[in-house]
Amino acid sequence: MSNLYAKAHEQSINDPENFWGPIAEDCFWYKKWDKVLDSSNKPFYRWFSGARTNTCYNAVDLHVDNGLGDQNAIIYDSPVTNTIKHYTYNDLKKQISLFAGALADKGVTKGDRILIYMPMIPEAAFAMLACARIGAVHSVVFGGFAPNELATRINDAKPKVIVSASCGIEITRVIEYKPLLDEAIDLSKSKPNSCIILQRPQAKAIMADGRDFDWKDVMDQAKPHDCVQVAATDPLYILYTSGTTGEPKGVVRDNGGHMVALKWSMNAIYGVNQGDVYWAASDIGWVVGHSYIVYGPLLKGCTTIIFEGKPVGTPDASAFWRVIAQHKVKTMFTAPTAFRAIKREDPTAKLIKNFDLSEFKYLFLAGERTDPDTLAWAENSLKVPVIDHWWQTETGWAIAANCIGIQQFKVKPGSPTKAAPGWNMEVLDTAGKPVPRGEIGAIVAKLPLPPGTLPTLWQNDERYKSAYLSAFPGYYETSDAGYIDEDGYIYVMARTDDIINVAGHRLSTGAMEEAIAGHPDVAECAVMGVEDQLKGQIPLGMMVLNAGVDRDEADVIKEVIQRVREQIGPVAAFKTATIVKRLPKTRSGKILRGTMRSIADQKEYKVPATIDDDTILDEIKTSLSKIGYGKKT
Ligand code: COA
Ligand code: AMP
Repeated sequence: MSNLYAKAHEQSINDPENFWGPIAEDCFWYKKWDKVLDSSNKPFYRWFSGARTNTCYNAVDLHVDNGLGDQNAIIYDSPVTNTIKHYTYNDLKKQISLFAGALADKGVTKGDRILIYMPMIPEAAFAMLACARIGAVHSVVFGGFAPNELATRINDAKPKVIVSASCGIEITRVIEYKPLLDEAIDLSKSKPNSCIILQRPQAKAIMADGRDFDWKDVMDQAKPHDCVQVAATDPLYILYTSGTTGEPKGVVRDNGGHMVALKWSMNAIYGVNQGDVYWAASDIGWVVGHSYIVYGPLLKGCTTIIFEGKPVGTPDASAFWRVIAQHKVKTMFTAPTAFRAIKREDPTAKLIKNFDLSEFKYLFLAGERTDPDTLAWAENSLKVPVIDHWWQTETGWAIAANCIGIQQFKVKPGSPTKAAPGWNMEVLDTAGKPVPRGEIGAIVAKLPLPPGTLPTLWQNDERYKSAYLSAFPGYYETSDAGYIDEDGYIYVMARTDDIINVAGHRLSTGAMEEAIAGHPDVAECAVMGVEDQLKGQIPLGMMVLNAGVDRDEADVIKEVIQRVREQIGPVAAFKTATIVKRLPKTRSGKILRGTMRSIADQKEYKVPATIDDDTILDEIKTSLSKIGYGKKT
């Protein structure tokens, strides 16, 4: 029996330098590394230290230099604007080098930050790669975030330039981005020197004199800019992700390790080669978009698809099948929630029959656990392997996967299969002791983490250590709980913090609580993630009002919902809240969110021994049942 996986995994853990060193030879380096893995400053590890490279060169110019300039690099497929556009590697190089020149004209140099707030259009990828070309550090912010969230990111990253577009399009609704951007800049202490705005025909942005420039004008005036050499350990990008407080964490990605790991993963994990069409139906604002819409497929010389549409509604539940067939997609990657949305509209998958999916080989799912029902439906409908894989913004690529290009394993429903090479996973109890196979605990990764993972948080080494490395010394804490079975399959069951996963979007309930608590009538509140058939989880808010507030409860609830939408964004999908007399707490004052969540989801729960007064749980049950959660009382 083949043991390719076991061999690769064993070497990656016991001899990481000889595992990753030869893999790195597949990339272009101006100067090779002094060390594959630099462990001289533990717990901070650096990959390929001493090496000099350029990620944009590797993702674009290298293919042109290798004679692949006429191959499609990007296919922009936008059902919301009725557009399909092909960009070859030659076209891509031209657009990116011009935009890099435009950024340089605005005074951007190596190490400067550029914030990108754009919808799913090719210019977003051009802007990211133009930053990489000149050594600037991009920070892409998801379009569904509100000005307040954008402002927090502007304040932390302090971008010299912000790149945006006049609007995004949500099915048929035009969302004007520029007023949101203007408000965010007003709210933030740090101000950009300039903004470059792509005017889309669906909305015209009003430009601020002296600060705002039209994308078209700056491109017309720009001269192409060449790739600059950067250190492998220099930052390529910052991507903010939800933490346990309202302050998001600025996950840093380096150039060298990221490039090596992602290029390798394209075949090792996803089974694709140069020239194949690879499609990640996500958004460039999320890590999946960074790694597998932009960098991974382009580093490998694949054709990637930028899809400005939704699984349903653009125009119907056959959108994914149409794109796969029309562009001859070999491997697709999306979130399970997208499949649940399709299944809800077309339960028997009858629309698939209208399309030729003969080139389609694999479906990969991530962002949340793939529930066995969705897995079975996708397998039966598509007749290809459906592969759940587990990862995080912090890790940049999969911690656990069925690595198609190494050795394909039998799928066990509910598991993302085994630890990928580079990942030494263990399950620990609260005291940091390994638990027996099959028992649930905190899933952790033994340090060092493989290349491509976060080396630190943006200008915050201390938070990096306290958030990830302090709970279990010598390990990275994933904040996911689960177990590993006898065959080494990992099962990821729940977060151990207050992060929830809404339609594959990672959100902090703590941040929502902060927004709600700011309402003048609210004394205290708790937000928890309750089960939802479509989105996996949705946030549910429980609020106690200040004494003496004598208003219509429905009005307060409406205002609170609006606050979360305005402060965090529509993507939070915060639409359900209720008012209670008091919240259940332990004697030390900790709100029992877990217990309330179990009641809402009709799950078993134990009344905690430390609870002050257990009649309070009856009140909670009654309130939840009035809004359709928990058992009817
Ligand atoms: N800009 C502005 N608003 C946005 C936005 C964006 N880029 N993305 C989402 N929104 C808005 C939506 O319009 C919606 O607003 P509404 O409350 O006014 O209707 C809200 O945010 C929630 O959006 P969404 O999460 O997309 O939910 P939905 O109900 O519109 O659609 C799905 C449900 C399942 C179809 C959708 O969530 C989906 O396609 N998910 C795929 C998830 C994914 O790609 N995850 C990335 C990780 S792999
Ligand atoms: P994000 O940083 O947005 O990618 O979210 C990461 C979190 O999403 C993880 O910590 C998990 O809680 C969850 N997640 C992602 N993929 C999976 C998966 N395949 N199975 C279970 N949980 C997942």
